[in-house]
Amino acid sequence: MSVETKNVTISIEKAKISKIDQVDFDNLKFGSVYTDHMLVCDYRNGAWQAPKIMPYQSIALDPSAKVFHYGQAIFEGMKAYKDDKGDIFLFRPLENQKRLNISAKRLAIPELPEDIFMEGLTTLLQLDSDFIPTQEGSSLYIRPFMFASGNGFHASPADEYKFIIACAPSGSYFSGKVKVLIEQTYSRSANGGVGFAKAGGNYAGQFYPTQLAIEKGYNQVIWTDDTEHEFIEEAGAMNIFVRINDTLITGPTSDRILDGITRKSILEIAKDHNIPTEVRKITVTEVVNAAKDGSLKEMFGAGTAAVISPIAAFGYKGTDYDLPELENSYATKLKKLITDIQYNKSEDKYGWRYKV
Ligand code: PLP
Ligand code: COI
Repeated sequence: MSVETKNVTISIEKAKISKIDQVDFDNLKFGSVYTDHMLVCDYRNGAWQAPKIMPYQSIALDPSAKVFHYGQAIFEGMKAYKDDKGDIFLFRPLENQKRLNISAKRLAIPELPEDIFMEGLTTLLQLDSDFIPTQEGSSLYIRPFMFASGNGFHASPADEYKFIIACAPSGSYFSGKVKVLIEQTYSRSANGGVGFAKAGGNYAGQFYPTQLAIEKGYNQVIWTDDTEHEFIEEAGAMNIFVRINDTLITGPTSDRILDGITRKSILEIAKDHNIPTEVRKITVTEVVNAAKDGSLKEMFGAGTAAVISPIAAFGYKGTDYDLPELENSYATKLKKLITDIQYNKSEDKYGWRYKV
């Protein structure tokens, strides 16, 4: 069968047997069980073709597919939320659609039309809506991604690509307290590079330094600038906020940092709730000194997967600095404000909630 959405015709092949009974909704991990269907759209002969929804399955690629050799691969991270009435919502989905194309352009991947992204996604969500969890703190994690499926060992952009959306009912990204290491040796990105893109290679490059940090007892690395390792940039999967006294500070975005949707939403919400905010460069020296004199009240990461994850301690040059456990932390307050909008529990004066 096929459905005609406003501007796109999507063919649908339904799964013969649903996997829903195998999902333990009360013990969801992050991104490790998948829904019954996926959306696939091919780029060939210079154009994106009609998208297809099909049973979730493996994909066959030629060993010479350029994604394996030259890493033309980008992705997005989004969530779908279900409210008490069973209505489904996305959070600022057009921001993800735009950012996918910003990443695509930088990696020489053809940009995807908005209609295919939005209408493909909403049709897929309607079909797999039973997989959207309603348990506290859970949601359906959505992974739209694009890669070079075209063949050849020549180091140049491929002539064929695939756009796929796969979804996973998920619980929280971190289990337990988050302890981070402020990186002094390795770099995540450099000026003029691809740090601002959600390119798979940005994450591959983080794995080895992160493994070294994990061996020392940390969960994540906080990346610093690549020249002096003195300015706080972001963490592996989230933007970073620091609270010194009453002021909430985050670094400016740049071509080295992902322009996080959670980050910019938090900045707006904080301003509207009389939390003093600053967007400016944050030095490691300033954070260490503030930890020593007690003016460093909080640090937290912000991202779609991580939501708002308070940082319990950070390590720097061999010393660990613990952060206080505040009763009325900004992290707790802001997390409630943003998730109440996402789960349709509060008014959304920003127009960020998108009903599917
Ligand atoms: N920084 C990195 C490197 C990320 O992978 C993410 C997650 O997407 C973020 C920041 C947060 O971005 P967003 O809030 O748009 O999910
Ligand atoms: C997200 O937060 O959606 C991300 O893409 C981060 C990812 C590394 C889990």
